[in-house]
Formats: sequence, C-alpha cells, structure tokens
Amino acid sequence: MAVQQAPVVDQDKLMAFLGQVIGELGATVNAGLIVIGDKLGLYRAMAGAGPITSSELADKTGTAERYIREWLNAQAAGGFVTYDPATKRYELPAEQAMALADENSPAFVGGAFELATATLKSIPHIQESFKTGAGFGWHEHDLGVSTGCERFFRPGYNANLVSTWIPALDGVEEKLRVGATVADVGCGLGASSRLMAQAYPKSHITGFDYHKESIDLAKQKARTEGLSDRLKFDVAPAQKFPGTGYDLVTMFDCLHDMGDPVGAARHVRQALAPDGTWLIVEPIAGDSVEQNLNPVGRAYYAFSNFLCTPSSLSQDVGLALGAQAGQKKIHDVVTAAGFTRFRKVGETPFNLVYEARP
Ligand SMILES: C[S@@+](CC[C@H](N)C(=O)[O-])C[C@H]1O[C@@H](n2cnc3c(N)ncnc32)[C@H](O)[C@@H]1O
Repeated sequence: MAVQQAPVVDQDKLMAFLGQVIGELGATVNAGLIVIGDKLGLYRAMAGAGPITSSELADKTGTAERYIREWLNAQAAGGFVTYDPATKRYELPAEQAMALADENSPAFVGGAFELATATLKSIPHIQESFKTGAGFGWHEHDLGVSTGCERFFRPGYNANLVSTWIPALDGVEEKLRVGATVADVGCGLGASSRLMAQAYPKSHITGFDYHKESIDLAKQKARTEGLSDRLKFDVAPAQKFPGTGYDLVTMFDCLHDMGDPVGAARHVRQALAPDGTWLIVEPIAGDSVEQNLNPVGRAYYAFSNFLCTPSSLSQDVGLALGAQAGQKKIHDVVTAAGFTRFRKVGETPFNLVYEARP
C-alpha cells in the first residue's frame, strides 16, 4: 500500500492566507453593521458633518451611545470612517459618504449589503439543496432579497439605462420618445420600469414578474412617484406574459435566473412587433471560469449559489445558467429561440448589455 506523505505546508503562505481570512471575517460581520448603519441613518447623519463624537452621533440619530461607540470603532478599524485619538472624534470621508450615505449616487452600496445579509438567511435551505439538487425559488427567500436587490441594481440603472443603454439600441430611443409599448419582464420592484416611465412619458410600460410580493411593492412605488398613468405592473412569468406587438421588451439581470430562458426567449419573440427589440442586461462575465476569477466574479458566483442557480432549478427545465453565464451562452439562448440578430451594445464593471432582434 502506498504511504501517504503529509503535504508540505509553507508557513509564510499559511500566514498570508490566515491574514486574508481574518480580513474576510471582519468584512463578513461588518456586513450586518453596514445594514444597521444604512437603516438607522448613521452614515447619512455623518455625511458632511465633519469630525463627530459617539455621543453627538447618538443624539443626532436617536440611538444609544454605547452601541454607537462600538459601531464607530468597527467602522474605524475597517477604514469606513477615520478616528482621531486626540479628540475621540470620527469622520466619514466624502468618498465613503458617496458609497454609503447617498442612495442616488452611482457608487451607492447600501443595497448590496441588504441583499447579501438577506440572502444568507437561506443558508439552511441552500445547504440542503447542495445534497438534494432541489431548487429554491426567488419567492422562498426573505423579502430583503427583493428589496435589497432593487437597491443594489438601481444605482447602475440610474447611471446607464437612459443615458447609454437605450441610445445604444438601434432606433429605440426615438420610438420611446414618440410613444412606444414596453414590457419589462422579470422587473422585480420595477426600478428599471420607473426610470423608463420617467424618461419617456409618452410610452406605456408594463412590468411583469412572477413574484407577487415584488409586484405589489412595484405598484406602490409607481403610485408614490405619480407614474401610474403610464406604468402598470402585473404578476406573470416570462414564458407567459400577456400582450403582443411590443416595441421593446426588456430583461434586467433576470434571464439567467429563469428555469427556461429559451422558452422565455421564444415567448418574447412572439410578443414583439416585427421590428421590435429585446434589451437584455446580464451580470458581466466572461465565457470561461478562469475569466471570472476576480472580485466581481467572486461576488456573482457567491450570489449565484444562493439566488440565481437555485431560482432556475426551482422552475420547469432548470437550465441553471448561473450569474456568470457569459456572452456565448446568452447568444445560444437567444438564437435557439429564433432571433436572427444578437449583439453586445454595452458594458459596465457589473453588467453586459445585449440587443436581440427577430
Ligand atoms: C435579480 S432579480 C432582478 C429584478 C429586477 N429586474 C432588477 O433588476 O432589479 C431577478 C428577478 O427575476 C424574477 N424571475 C425569476 N424567474 C422568473 C420567471 N420565470 N418569470 C418572471 N420573473 C422571474 C425574480 O422574481 C426576480 O424579481
């Protein structure tokens, strides 16, 4: 019998890895503190306030000083705020304020942590799915997954959808200005639908999602923003949403979540006007695993384990493209459904943008 040799451990590499892991441990727990800071308005109260003591921040936000002091120390240790030992004052730098305190900034990350912490509530279910291979639908997650997802993606849509992605489509911007019909499929809470309704008031937009709770929240938001005359929402799966003759069908970060993306693509094709356009926004990804071994790919593969892959596996067909599908797989889905034209029309650090035409 062959004698197994103990692997040689390089102590320097071990220490380097443990150093990395301790940073990740702090970051993991700090995710909860980011959510608390976001929900209680702690970052917002610090933004532009200059150096501040824990008592002042507690007074400003109606919170308990002892908790605030501990929270501030964690933020200072992580480089989220600065600390001056001479004055015992903490300050939120302008760059951190942009990322943590300004919901409308393109750099806002508060929603990402609402999404991440809500996602992790499904650990027991997903752990079981690893053994059984069963799916776990979007609707089975904590609602914070849906609300956090909307806040996670909205800054990117605000920054790109109307200024860059729509103009990159062949002839679509003009149609929307004059008055077009649009189906925003897999719309979630409808961040993209609301943006289009605001930018193109003569167009009629309907957002569809199979998840009723998301659609209820989307309707509320449209009412609050005074858009209900031109923006409707309805519960419907991508394979069966009602209506035909659409000038534009959009799918934002959801095609890969579907069990039967080819079936959905076929349905989009028959729902489009003959010269209509399908806008597909997907997470940025290369075609091969090795192209995605970077920080963005890591975050998307992790979310994909909990959200995208189980979502697809919970539905008919269960193709399970995953969040890192890449252009080639999306191209194959689109052309399998009979679309004759497919091209990439945009790219951001987080998204790839495609145009498909019948
Ligand atoms: C990552 S979220 C994106 C939501 C929204 N488009 C956005 O960008 O904020 C994926 C969405 O796809 C929806 N979804 C998954 N499978 C679907 C299907 N077969 N038909 C319609 N919607 C679906 C989920 O309910 C969820 O709202």
